[in-house]
Amino acid sequence: MREVTLGLLGLGNIGGGVWDLVREFGDELATRTGLRLRVKKALVLDKKIHGGKEVPDEVLTTDKDDILEDPEIQIVCEFLGGEQPAASMMLRALENGKSVVSANKMALSLHFDELREMAKKTGAGLYFEASVGGAIPVLTALQSPLIANHVEQVMGIVNGTTNYILTRMAAEGAEYEDVLKDAQRLGLAEPDPTADVEGMDAAYKISIMGSLAFHSRIYMEDVYREGITNVSAEDIAFGREMGYVLKLLAIGKDNGDSIEARVHPAFLPVDHPLARVDGSLNAIYLYGHSFKDMMLEGRGAGDAPTASAIVGDIVLAARNAVHPVAWLREDPLPVADDWQSKYFIRMKAKDAPGVLAEVTGLLAGEGISVSAMMQKGAAPGGKATLIVITHIAPEKAVRRVVEALNPEICQVENVIRVEG
Ligand code: HSE
Repeated sequence: MREVTLGLLGLGNIGGGVWDLVREFGDELATRTGLRLRVKKALVLDKKIHGGKEVPDEVLTTDKDDILEDPEIQIVCEFLGGEQPAASMMLRALENGKSVVSANKMALSLHFDELREMAKKTGAGLYFEASVGGAIPVLTALQSPLIANHVEQVMGIVNGTTNYILTRMAAEGAEYEDVLKDAQRLGLAEPDPTADVEGMDAAYKISIMGSLAFHSRIYMEDVYREGITNVSAEDIAFGREMGYVLKLLAIGKDNGDSIEARVHPAFLPVDHPLARVDGSLNAIYLYGHSFKDMMLEGRGAGDAPTASAIVGDIVLAARNAVHPVAWLREDPLPVADDWQSKYFIRMKAKDAPGVLAEVTGLLAGEGISVSAMMQKGAAPGGKATLIVITHIAPEKAVRRVVEALNPEICQVENVIRVEG
């Protein structure tokens, strides 16, 4: 039996989940893998307050060097969250030849180049399966069983909080603010929900997952990002009437000479595999030239599902004689600032002759063809809701049309991309 000595940076929810899993499942894991995992040290802010786990006093430390500088510790698991000091500590661990396991999408996305370079230099391993999709093994899949593919598309529901909110808005016809408040009350959304609802969390994740899928580094600042705060119950209801379900999607596409990386609300046809992924579940839909299409679905957050991925990475790190380093192009492909999609445009328009002609005229002027249209609440001289769904069109052309519409006769209330 080989002993694997671990140091945990942090013992909060995820760290505590890993502590529990190693303790409860350690014997079984030893039987299956021949590895005995031992947590030698866990870094905490205060030895008396550490999430209520029964951790022996000699394991707890408030000094990071007890982990980072201890030659006996082989694998450092980072659970601090946030950019710093997490990134610096991971870098130091790698510099000291220790493999690092982390679920920290922010630190990994922002510091991937230097962490990867250091791992290459010292031969230590950098493992981060839990950073995207929680328990779903998508990053390992991209780097190993799916490696014999030109991956053309990754499209995911990678944020459970927003999927929970959108699912309830759809089921109850409720508005965003009301569902958010309730989700916060139930502990299903953070007291400060910004990172989730503004799409930052999903953007970090597509920057990591897209980089591995397309072998080309995608930087966080290049990811186009819109959150769910402007979505209304009306959008969801009209979309549903026209055969669509609204999701917050993280989309990556390889167009050959450029890459798309974007996070925004999007309508999917009701029969798309991602359309039925509800509540706080995550799912990633992939297309590769040899496996064709595939969807991976599961729990993207929570102590136990995240610990499942972390401990899986620990086992990989302990087993691998040579740690795999994802190959990335030295000259990253540019991230596109324009792309093609279909568009759902919801407008409040004067119910008068010529209004439709103005809308369709502007669309025609940009070469955009209409695929479906619906008018509701019409009353001569009054205001009606007008929904237009376009055929595939360039993003920038649609933005020009929206800019050009005369608000005196037609106000655009929302524009939502239609994917799938
Ligand atoms: N905040 C994330 C979510 C979980 O709501 O899915 C951690 O990545």
